Amino acid sequence: MPQPLPRGTIITRQLQSAIAAFTLLPILLTLGGCYPKRIGPVGDQGKPLTWKEMSANQRKTHMKTAIVPRAGAIFRAWRPQRHAQIDCTLCHGPNARKDDFRMPTDHLPRLSGALLLGPEFEKHPDTTRLKLQQLVPTMAAALGRKPFNLLTRRGFGCYSCHLGPSGPMFGE
Ligand code: HEC
Ligand code: HEC
Repeated sequence: MPQPLPRGTIITRQLQSAIAAFTLLPILLTLGGCYPKRIGPVGDQGKPLTWKEMSANQRKTHMKTAIVPRAGAIFRAWRPQRHAQIDCTLCHGPNARKDDFRMPTDHLPRLSGALLLGPEFEKHPDTTRLKLQQLVPTMAAALGRKPFNLLTRRGFGCYSCHLGPSGPMFGE
Protein backbone atom coordinates (compact mmCIF):
# COMPACT_ATOMS: atom_id res chain seq x y z
CA MET A 1 0.00 0.00 0.00
CA PRO A 2 1.38 3.46 -0.85
CA GLN A 3 2.10 5.68 2.13
CA PRO A 4 -0.51 8.49 2.43
CA LEU A 5 1.08 11.92 2.11
CA PRO A 6 1.39 13.80 5.40
CA ARG A 7 -1.54 16.24 5.87
CA GLY A 8 0.64 19.30 5.73
CA THR A 9 1.87 18.46 2.24
CA ILE A 10 -1.65 18.27 0.82
CA ILE A 11 -2.67 21.62 2.25
CA THR A 12 0.49 23.19 0.91
CA ARG A 13 -0.23 21.81 -2.56
CA GLN A 14 -3.80 23.07 -2.50
CA LEU A 15 -2.59 26.43 -1.33
CA GLN A 16 -0.03 26.49 -4.10
CA SER A 17 -2.64 25.81 -6.79
CA ALA A 18 -4.95 28.41 -5.27
CA ILE A 19 -2.18 30.99 -5.34
CA ALA A 20 -1.32 30.01 -8.91
CA ALA A 21 -4.99 30.33 -9.95
CA PHE A 22 -5.37 33.77 -8.38
CA THR A 23 -2.16 35.10 -9.84
CA LEU A 24 -3.09 33.78 -13.26
CA LEU A 25 -6.67 35.07 -13.24
CA PRO A 26 -5.89 38.81 -13.42
CA ILE A 27 -3.30 38.13 -16.13
CA LEU A 28 -5.89 36.22 -18.21
CA LEU A 29 -8.46 38.95 -17.63
CA THR A 30 -6.12 41.69 -18.82
CA LEU A 31 -5.04 39.64 -21.83
CA GLY A 32 -8.61 39.06 -22.97
CA GLY A 33 -10.27 42.16 -21.63
CA CYS A 34 -8.52 45.26 -22.89
CA TYR A 35 -9.87 45.56 -26.42
CA PRO A 36 -10.39 47.81 -28.27
CA LYS A 37 -6.97 49.33 -27.73
CA ARG A 38 -6.33 53.09 -27.84
CA ILE A 39 -4.14 53.24 -30.94
CA GLY A 40 -5.17 56.64 -32.34
CA PRO A 41 -4.44 60.32 -31.73
CA VAL A 42 -5.50 61.93 -28.41
CA GLY A 43 -9.20 62.86 -28.41
CA ASP A 44 -11.31 65.47 -26.54
CA GLN A 45 -11.22 63.43 -23.32
CA GLY A 46 -7.42 63.64 -23.26
CA LYS A 47 -7.09 59.93 -24.04
CA PRO A 48 -5.89 58.30 -27.27
CA LEU A 49 -8.84 57.21 -29.43
CA THR A 50 -9.78 53.66 -30.40
CA TRP A 51 -10.19 52.86 -34.11
CA LYS A 52 -14.00 53.04 -33.77
CA GLU A 53 -13.82 56.45 -32.08
CA MET A 54 -11.67 57.97 -34.84
CA SER A 55 -13.16 60.27 -37.50
CA ALA A 56 -12.99 59.41 -41.21
CA ASN A 57 -9.97 61.68 -41.63
CA GLN A 58 -8.19 60.25 -38.60
CA ARG A 59 -8.83 56.75 -39.96
CA LYS A 60 -7.34 57.70 -43.33
CA THR A 61 -4.22 59.06 -41.64
CA HIS A 62 -3.93 55.92 -39.52
CA MET A 63 -4.25 53.75 -42.64
CA LYS A 64 -1.50 55.76 -44.33
CA THR A 65 0.94 55.79 -41.40
CA ALA A 66 0.24 52.50 -39.61
CA ILE A 67 -1.45 50.08 -42.01
CA VAL A 68 0.12 50.68 -45.43
CA PRO A 69 3.76 50.32 -44.24
CA ARG A 70 3.08 47.18 -42.15
CA ALA A 71 0.80 45.44 -44.65
CA GLY A 72 3.10 46.56 -47.47
CA ALA A 73 6.07 44.77 -45.90
CA ILE A 74 4.08 41.54 -45.61
CA PHE A 75 2.70 41.61 -49.17
CA ARG A 76 6.13 42.57 -50.55
CA ALA A 77 7.77 39.61 -48.83
CA TRP A 78 5.08 37.36 -50.38
CA ARG A 79 5.06 38.64 -53.99
CA PRO A 80 7.93 41.14 -54.38
CA GLN A 81 7.29 42.03 -58.01
CA ARG A 82 3.54 42.41 -57.76
CA HIS A 83 3.60 44.35 -54.50
CA ALA A 84 6.78 46.41 -54.79
CA GLN A 85 4.67 49.47 -53.98
CA ILE A 86 1.23 49.15 -52.39
CA ASP A 87 -1.45 51.78 -51.92
CA CYS A 88 -5.04 52.06 -50.68
CA THR A 89 -6.41 50.25 -53.75
CA LEU A 90 -4.67 46.98 -52.81
CA CYS A 91 -7.37 46.31 -50.20
CA HIS A 92 -10.07 48.87 -51.01
CA GLY A 93 -9.95 48.48 -54.80
CA PRO A 94 -11.01 51.22 -57.24
CA ASN A 95 -13.60 52.44 -54.71
CA ALA A 96 -10.73 54.09 -52.81
CA ARG A 97 -10.56 56.67 -55.59
CA LYS A 98 -14.23 57.52 -54.93
CA ASP A 99 -13.51 57.93 -51.21
CA ASP A 100 -15.43 54.71 -50.41
CA PHE A 101 -13.44 52.67 -47.89
CA ARG A 102 -16.09 50.28 -46.61
CA MET A 103 -14.83 46.79 -45.78
CA PRO A 104 -15.16 43.89 -46.44
CA THR A 105 -15.17 44.40 -50.19
CA ASP A 106 -16.13 42.65 -53.42
CA HIS A 107 -12.84 43.84 -54.90
CA LEU A 108 -11.09 40.91 -53.15
CA PRO A 109 -11.75 37.23 -54.00
CA ARG A 110 -14.62 35.76 -51.98
CA LEU A 111 -13.60 33.09 -49.47
CA SER A 112 -15.39 29.79 -48.75
CA GLY A 113 -16.91 30.69 -45.38
CA ALA A 114 -15.51 27.48 -43.84
CA LEU A 115 -14.60 28.26 -40.22
CA LEU A 116 -11.31 26.33 -40.32
CA LEU A 117 -10.41 27.54 -43.84
CA GLY A 118 -10.23 23.99 -45.27
CA PRO A 119 -10.76 25.02 -48.93
CA GLU A 120 -8.35 27.96 -48.58
CA PHE A 121 -5.59 25.76 -47.14
CA GLU A 122 -6.19 23.27 -49.95
CA LYS A 123 -6.14 25.74 -52.87
CA HIS A 124 -3.84 28.48 -51.54
CA PRO A 125 -1.76 27.03 -48.70
CA ASP A 126 1.00 29.68 -48.80
CA THR A 127 -1.27 32.72 -48.87
CA THR A 128 -3.53 31.27 -46.21
CA ARG A 129 -0.63 30.54 -43.86
CA LEU A 130 0.90 33.98 -44.44
CA LYS A 131 -2.41 35.72 -43.84
CA LEU A 132 -3.18 33.70 -40.73
CA GLN A 133 0.28 33.95 -39.15
CA GLN A 134 1.30 37.46 -40.22
CA LEU A 135 -1.31 39.67 -41.89
CA VAL A 136 -4.23 39.08 -39.50
CA PRO A 137 -2.25 39.55 -36.24
CA THR A 138 -0.37 42.58 -37.64
CA MET A 139 -3.55 44.29 -38.87
CA ALA A 140 -5.50 43.48 -35.69
CA ALA A 141 -2.71 44.95 -33.54
CA ALA A 142 -2.36 48.07 -35.71
CA LEU A 143 -6.14 48.64 -35.49
CA GLY A 144 -6.25 47.76 -31.77
CA ARG A 145 -8.92 45.18 -32.52
CA LYS A 146 -9.17 41.71 -30.98
CA PRO A 147 -7.94 39.06 -33.46
CA PHE A 148 -10.58 36.61 -34.74
CA ASN A 149 -11.46 34.01 -32.12
CA LEU A 150 -12.71 30.56 -33.15
CA LEU A 151 -14.97 30.24 -30.10
CA THR A 152 -16.71 33.63 -30.20
CA ARG A 153 -16.44 33.83 -34.02
CA ARG A 154 -15.82 37.53 -33.67
CA GLY A 155 -12.80 39.78 -34.10
CA PHE A 156 -10.50 40.93 -36.89
CA GLY A 157 -9.84 38.14 -39.39
CA CYS A 158 -10.07 37.07 -43.03
CA TYR A 159 -13.64 38.34 -43.28
CA SER A 160 -12.65 41.85 -42.20
CA CYS A 161 -11.30 42.20 -45.76
CA HIS A 162 -12.88 39.37 -47.80
CA LEU A 163 -16.57 38.55 -48.32
CA GLY A 164 -18.00 35.04 -47.93
CA PRO A 165 -19.93 33.15 -50.63
CA SER A 166 -23.11 35.20 -50.08
CA GLY A 167 -21.88 38.33 -48.32
CA PRO A 168 -20.24 39.51 -45.11
CA MET A 169 -19.52 36.90 -42.42
CA PHE A 170 -18.76 36.66 -38.69
CA GLY A 171 -20.20 40.08 -37.89
CA GLU A 172 -17.80 41.87 -40.25
C1 HEC B 1 -3.80 45.97 -46.20
C2 HEC B 1 -5.14 46.37 -46.50
C3 HEC B 1 -5.49 47.84 -46.43
C4 HEC B 1 -4.84 48.87 -47.05
C5 HEC B 1 -3.60 48.85 -47.91
C6 HEC B 1 -5.60 50.07 -46.71
N1 HEC B 1 -6.68 49.73 -45.94
FE1 HEC B 1 -8.11 51.00 -45.23
N2 HEC B 1 -9.04 49.45 -44.27
C7 HEC B 1 -8.62 48.13 -44.29
C8 HEC B 1 -9.49 47.36 -43.44
C9 HEC B 1 -9.38 45.86 -43.16
C10 HEC B 1 -10.45 48.24 -42.89
C11 HEC B 1 -11.59 47.91 -41.92
C12 HEC B 1 -11.02 48.00 -40.52
C13 HEC B 1 -12.02 47.71 -39.44
O1 HEC B 1 -13.10 48.32 -39.42
O2 HEC B 1 -11.73 46.88 -38.59
C14 HEC B 1 -10.13 49.55 -43.45
C15 HEC B 1 -10.87 50.70 -43.17
C16 HEC B 1 -10.58 51.96 -43.69
C17 HEC B 1 -11.35 53.15 -43.42
C18 HEC B 1 -12.59 53.21 -42.53
C19 HEC B 1 -13.79 52.82 -43.33
C20 HEC B 1 -15.05 52.94 -42.55
O3 HEC B 1 -16.04 52.26 -42.93
O4 HEC B 1 -15.09 53.70 -41.58
C21 HEC B 1 -10.78 54.18 -44.10
C22 HEC B 1 -11.24 55.64 -44.14
C23 HEC B 1 -9.64 53.63 -44.81
N3 HEC B 1 -9.55 52.27 -44.54
C24 HEC B 1 -8.79 54.37 -45.61
C25 HEC B 1 -7.65 53.86 -46.22
C26 HEC B 1 -6.71 54.68 -46.95
C27 HEC B 1 -6.84 56.19 -47.19
C28 HEC B 1 -5.70 53.84 -47.38
C29 HEC B 1 -4.44 54.19 -48.14
C30 HEC B 1 -3.63 55.25 -47.54
C31 HEC B 1 -6.04 52.48 -46.90
N4 HEC B 1 -7.22 52.55 -46.21
C32 HEC B 1 -5.27 51.35 -47.13
C33 HEC B 1 -7.55 47.63 -45.01
C34 HEC B 1 -6.65 48.36 -45.74
C1 HEC C 1 -6.11 43.23 -44.57
C2 HEC C 1 -6.90 42.62 -45.58
C3 HEC C 1 -6.83 41.13 -45.77
C4 HEC C 1 -7.02 40.16 -44.81
C5 HEC C 1 -7.26 40.32 -43.34
C6 HEC C 1 -6.94 38.90 -45.50
N1 HEC C 1 -6.71 39.10 -46.83
FE1 HEC C 1 -6.65 37.67 -48.29
N2 HEC C 1 -6.18 39.09 -49.68
C7 HEC C 1 -6.05 40.43 -49.42
C8 HEC C 1 -5.58 41.09 -50.62
C9 HEC C 1 -5.27 42.58 -50.75
C10 HEC C 1 -5.46 40.10 -51.63
C11 HEC C 1 -5.03 40.29 -53.08
C12 HEC C 1 -3.55 40.05 -53.19
C13 HEC C 1 -3.05 40.18 -54.59
O1 HEC C 1 -3.79 40.65 -55.45
O2 HEC C 1 -1.89 39.80 -54.81
C14 HEC C 1 -5.88 38.84 -51.00
C15 HEC C 1 -5.90 37.63 -51.66
C16 HEC C 1 -6.28 36.42 -51.07
C17 HEC C 1 -6.38 35.16 -51.77
C18 HEC C 1 -6.12 34.94 -53.25
C19 HEC C 1 -4.67 34.58 -53.37
C20 HEC C 1 -4.17 34.48 -54.77
O3 HEC C 1 -3.25 33.70 -54.98
O4 HEC C 1 -4.67 35.19 -55.65
C21 HEC C 1 -6.74 34.23 -50.84
C22 HEC C 1 -6.97 32.74 -51.06
C23 HEC C 1 -6.85 34.90 -49.56
N3 HEC C 1 -6.57 36.25 -49.74
C24 HEC C 1 -7.15 34.27 -48.38
C25 HEC C 1 -7.18 34.90 -47.13
C26 HEC C 1 -7.37 34.20 -45.88
C27 HEC C 1 -7.57 32.70 -45.74
C28 HEC C 1 -7.33 35.16 -44.89
C29 HEC C 1 -7.42 34.96 -43.39
C30 HEC C 1 -6.53 34.00 -42.81
C31 HEC C 1 -7.15 36.44 -45.54
N4 HEC C 1 -7.04 36.25 -46.90
C32 HEC C 1 -7.07 37.66 -44.88
C33 HEC C 1 -6.32 41.07 -48.23
C34 HEC C 1 -6.61 40.45 -47.03
